[in-house]
Amino acid sequence: MLETSIDAIINKEILTKEDLVRLLSSSEEESAVVFKKAAEIKAKYVGRKVYFRGLIEYSNRCKKNCFYCGVRAGNTQTGRYELTDDEVLEAAKFAWENKYASLVIQSGERNDKAFIKRIGGLLQSIKQLSGGKLGITLSMGEQTEETYRYWYDCGAHRYLLRIETSSRKLFEKLHPHNALHCYDRRLEALHSLKKSGYQVGTGVMIGLPFQTIENLAEDLMFFKNFDIDMVGMGPYIEHEQTPLYKYSDQLLSRTERFNLSMKMVALLRIIMKDINIAATTAMQTLDPQGREKAILYGANVIMPNLTSLKYREDYMLYADKPGITEDPEDSRSYLESRIKMIGETIGYNEWGDSKHFAARNINHTD
Ligand code: 5AD
Ligand code: SF4
Repeated sequence: MLETSIDAIINKEILTKEDLVRLLSSSEEESAVVFKKAAEIKAKYVGRKVYFRGLIEYSNRCKKNCFYCGVRAGNTQTGRYELTDDEVLEAAKFAWENKYASLVIQSGERNDKAFIKRIGGLLQSIKQLSGGKLGITLSMGEQTEETYRYWYDCGAHRYLLRIETSSRKLFEKLHPHNALHCYDRRLEALHSLKKSGYQVGTGVMIGLPFQTIENLAEDLMFFKNFDIDMVGMGPYIEHEQTPLYKYSDQLLSRTERFNLSMKMVALLRIIMKDINIAATTAMQTLDPQGREKAILYGANVIMPNLTSLKYREDYMLYADKPGITEDPEDSRSYLESRIKMIGETIGYNEWGDSKHFAARNINHTD
């Protein structure tokens, strides 16, 4: 019987690529079995708890030209902004006063000295305003190991750098062919982050043009083989002002992309039991309850947006990004009630570090 075979697969000690392909291709009825298993593993290994990370979209200035992204340098139709120090500190204060315990500062990629210094200064000021207690995650693309170490010394302790796809071939289709967009360089940056002491997060987009189910199964194996601490992944959403938009007719439907994203979350929880997994905004774009569903199927982190409303429209990585008009206060109370409704608690005042990171470090020093 089909159901028995799905059951037999998810209860295996180690899932092979073929198993993952089979599970990613499961029918709606079969995926219910996968979701249930993921929920059990989540409850057992990380608890039914969600951690908030206040998200600050620091700047949409970016030197890169990724073919999928709305804030790519080549998009001349978007206004560019960079928050002032006061705006960043105000958002940090909101996070601190609302017991979020932790921040994510995200930005387009820049490597100039002035930028690197400014971020360093901001990290120190945020640490100061919270008596060293507010945790800080950075997501600022590929930098030198020296920069990663400098920011770490200034107070950042987690870093998110998505590989976007673990397939070198697909990566090369999604980016211009030049030194600035290089698969090996991305891998090297992930290694540098690990060496510098960060909890390291990566992720992929799901439902990209040219992407196969095999690619996605390999993405899951990549997370596992890289021994990653955190993952943020979400559906690919087309943006009209990008080169990839011309392939929109080849995409899976929005519902299919969403469902595939939920399966990716659930399978990742099954194969990496103690990592942190984010319920991302792109999931919410395709389904208003997308983040809550991801939480039920294995995710345990949410990033409520703290960026001042006047800049939200410019941080359009993809079309229809939600939350353009939802201020931080509304977003907090909305999420709080939704999360309670699904029977989970919120880890207020807790950093909610990746348990996997702690275990990885104990093992390394043994
Ligand atoms: N759809 C979904 N996610 C996107 N990102 C960029 N463009 C898109 C898109 N069109 C994601 C990438 C990147 C992060 C900043 O936003 O994964 O790492
Ligand atoms: Fe820049 Fe990141 Fe967008 Fe690429 S995905 S263009 S690096 S903001």
